[in-house]
Amino acid sequence: MIEEVSAIVTRWAEQEPPHEDYAPHQGGSIHQRSRLREMAELALQNYDGDILEIGCHIGLTTSIFAELAKKYDRRVVVIDPWNGLQEGDESVYQEFKRATKQYEDIIDVNRMLSQSPEAKTVISSGKFAFCWIDGLHTPFACMTDIRSCNGQIGIQAVDDLSWSSEGALKECFYQLANQYGYEHVYDERCREGYYICKGK
Ligand SMILES: C[S@@+](CC[C@H](N)C(=O)[O-])C[C@H]1O[C@@H](n2cnc3c(N)ncnc32)[C@H](O)[C@@H]1O
Repeated sequence: MIEEVSAIVTRWAEQEPPHEDYAPHQGGSIHQRSRLREMAELALQNYDGDILEIGCHIGLTTSIFAELAKKYDRRVVVIDPWNGLQEGDESVYQEFKRATKQYEDIIDVNRMLSQSPEAKTVISSGKFAFCWIDGLHTPFACMTDIRSCNGQIGIQAVDDLSWSSEGALKECFYQLANQYGYEHVYDERCREGYYICKGK
């Protein structure tokens, strides 16, 4: 699986324009949705379970995941408080609802902080072939989210490694990969990194 994941990352990383051409938080994200689409499909083809998205904003990636989930007869579980933190608020939530309306029968919306006990229960009681961790970008929140997804079998993607918290998220990514024994792929030309998780 690591070869397939690396091949997708490298093929799209080669097409990422230089980070200096963009605002720091945008570097490495120009082809991110193309990578995520291929990665999520690879996960659904190889593992049982649904798709989990932590942090959804207006649902641009959620719509991609929902299209794939429909194709493979799975569901998309989303966790986002839309509480005004990090570009998510009530109007953004309403836009999310509009953007994902055609898939509402296969999307489970959990409007809550992903660090809350309730969200941890949502994650631990689900089975996820693919997890997209893109909520609050503090090291504490990111580490909590990665920890909550530990035990799932499949592919997990963690966003904002290239710029967030002066490199702290990248450190979190590697630290937890070592702790959990995950195979991992992170290409510095991209904003996000990937884990291949074999369960506990
Ligand atoms: C960068 S956006 C997500 C973008 C989306 N995944 C995409 O790729 O199109 C960040 C989202 O994280 C959400 N968020 C903020 N704090 C959060 C938390 N504690 N738990 C989960 N999501 C959170 C915000 O409401 C916002 O919608």
